[in-house]
Amino acid sequence: MKLFLFFHFFGFGILVYFLVPQKSKAQSITNGSLIYNDFCYRCHGVNGVGRDNLIPPLKSSDYLLKNISLSIAGLKYGLKGEIIVNGKVYNGYMAYQGLDNEEIADVMNYILNQWGNNYEGFIDASQVEKIPKSIFEK
Ligand code: HEC
Repeated sequence: MKLFLFFHFFGFGILVYFLVPQKSKAQSITNGSLIYNDFCYRCHGVNGVGRDNLIPPLKSSDYLLKNISLSIAGLKYGLKGEIIVNGKVYNGYMAYQGLDNEEIADVMNYILNQWGNNYEGFIDASQVEKIPKSIFEK
């Protein structure tokens, strides 16, 4: 009987796994590329290189690649004040772009895996959800 129950629930778990669509990293990056073109491209540019002293780069950005949670927070709450990207000081303002957690995860997966950026992990909406605004105070 116990064995029967085990297989009963185990089998059910497998069924749910296959029925509930799981988004792959590749799919997330594809969705993220569309979001990038709609929302980010006009500032951060076609190759994520930024613009002069006004807009920091995303390509090879140490800020982005070393502060993934802070970068997510910037997209979730907006970002303003002094930041240093690859040794250069920026003191601008990026408004909250109106993206939901899922869209932020997708665009993060995109910018973390473009223009030579390479991030092994995968960001999903629940990770974005968990990041509090207080992260900026640390
Ligand atoms: C209106 C112009 C504008 C738009 C649109 C914009 N950004 Fe930004 N972004 C900025 C500015 C300016 C900063 C620097 C803010 C500061 O100095 O505090 C910044 C900073 C960043 C940073 C952290 C610094 C770095 O370069 O690594 C990331 C990551 C980022 N933006 C990603 C995005 C993504 C993704 C989008 C699209 C969803 C986007 N931005 C849309 C202007 C913009």
